[in-house]
Amino acid sequence: MEPQFSEAEQARIEDICRRYPTRQSAVMAVLWLAQEKFGALSPPVLRLVAETLGIPTSHVEGVATFYTMYLTERKGKYLLELCTCFTCGECGGREMWDYLMQKLQLNDEGVSPDGLFWLREAECLGACDTPPVLQIEGRRMVFNLTPEKADQVIDMLRRGELPPFESVPVRNSSPQ
Ligand code: FES
Repeated sequence: MEPQFSEAEQARIEDICRRYPTRQSAVMAVLWLAQEKFGALSPPVLRLVAETLGIPTSHVEGVATFYTMYLTERKGKYLLELCTCFTCGECGGREMWDYLMQKLQLNDEGVSPDGLFWLREAECLGACDTPPVLQIEGRRMVFNLTPEKADQVIDMLRRGELPPFESVPVRNSSPQ
């Protein structure tokens, strides 16, 4: 069956479109909505987004394949992205990569035997002062990742719960 948006989702999309000068400008927000609903942006989902916005499928596909936040295929139920860029890599990211690979028994594609977890490396996630950083499903961040924190996150995901977004303490740089 071809993917479809519900009436409520269509209304939400129209709301989103009203915030942009053209329907084409809303493509990123609508792709994100589609990914949250369908899990990944398969060719039929890309066509649905294109038809809904009235723009060419090639344009939608170009956006979806350019940004790493969009998944054109999903290899595991929960996507874990571990930053291994310079700061995170040097401050425990490499060790955490090995820890997660072993703990979750991930294969060469980073997928666990039960298909629940899919680990991949991320480029800098913009939180270099709290390394290493783990991003979950593109919307939850875990800072200063340790094996203990990783164990907690994995337990939560196994229970079907997304961990909370951790807030980073903002240092007070003004003179005391
Ligand atoms: S290097 Fe990891 S968040 Fe920037």
